[in-house]
Amino acid sequence: MMTSIRHRPLPYLGFGLGLRVDHYEALLDDPGQVEWLEIVSENYLVPGGRPLRWLERFRERFPLVMHGVSMSIGGTDPLDETYLNQLASLARRIEPMWVSDHLCWTGVQGINLHDLMPLPYTEEALAHVVERVRRVQDKLGRRILLENVSSYISFADSQLTEWEFLAAVAENADCLILLDINNIYVSAHNHRFSALDYLDGIPAARVQQFHLAGHEHGDHLLIDTHDSPVIEPVWNLYVEALRRYGAVSTMIERDDHVPPLAELRAELNKARALAMPLRQEAA
Ligand SMILES: [Fe+2]
Repeated sequence: MMTSIRHRPLPYLGFGLGLRVDHYEALLDDPGQVEWLEIVSENYLVPGGRPLRWLERFRERFPLVMHGVSMSIGGTDPLDETYLNQLASLARRIEPMWVSDHLCWTGVQGINLHDLMPLPYTEEALAHVVERVRRVQDKLGRRILLENVSSYISFADSQLTEWEFLAAVAENADCLILLDINNIYVSAHNHRFSALDYLDGIPAARVQQFHLAGHEHGDHLLIDTHDSPVIEPVWNLYVEALRRYGAVSTMIERDDHVPPLAELRAELNKARALAMPLRQEAA
């Protein structure tokens, strides 16, 4: 019997970057050093036009993954069927290795907060999210990945830790996890939990991708701005994650102050260098 795309194990892609307009030309001129690209799905939802024409050129040269910000999987408004149809049609067109979004909510009663808000980690929220993930996966005909967001607030009625909640969503909805190592570091600092406890609580078999990014120091809080290089403690946490989960497709995520490609490649090379000894140990 053929395994449906939904249950097929997803491949290991190596070391990639988030695709940004600033790097279009440089990447197409010399695709060699980046093994895969993550696109922001929302940038390519309109059929036809220039963005999709660019994307098709990348599609010919790189494995692509789709990363969205608008699913609002934890929201209480109904899932946006128009958006899901657009995602599904982009996925049919470019056949990404996988599709991801965030474990968050982004608005209520049609008002978009333009932010990725954390959920209360309750049994009720868990059941709500699991049911929505299942519906999205049925619609897309594939498992999705959900990413942990960084947060500055928490809810007094949370019954579970963030990592217990994320693990339970993945197990109960049969979805996968995109772990943002920087977001774990930021949230651990802001909420005073142990980042290592977080890593220990996530089932290795569910972890399909890592994000590495930089962040900003506020007066008391760390703010996940994705606008600066990865800092040393986050590299250390990355090594801890590799020890626990083995080889996981890794990418550098930079949303603002996008530097020249060479700078991001240097960070990618650092990730490779850190992962290499652990892979040799495992071999
Ligand atoms: Fe991220």
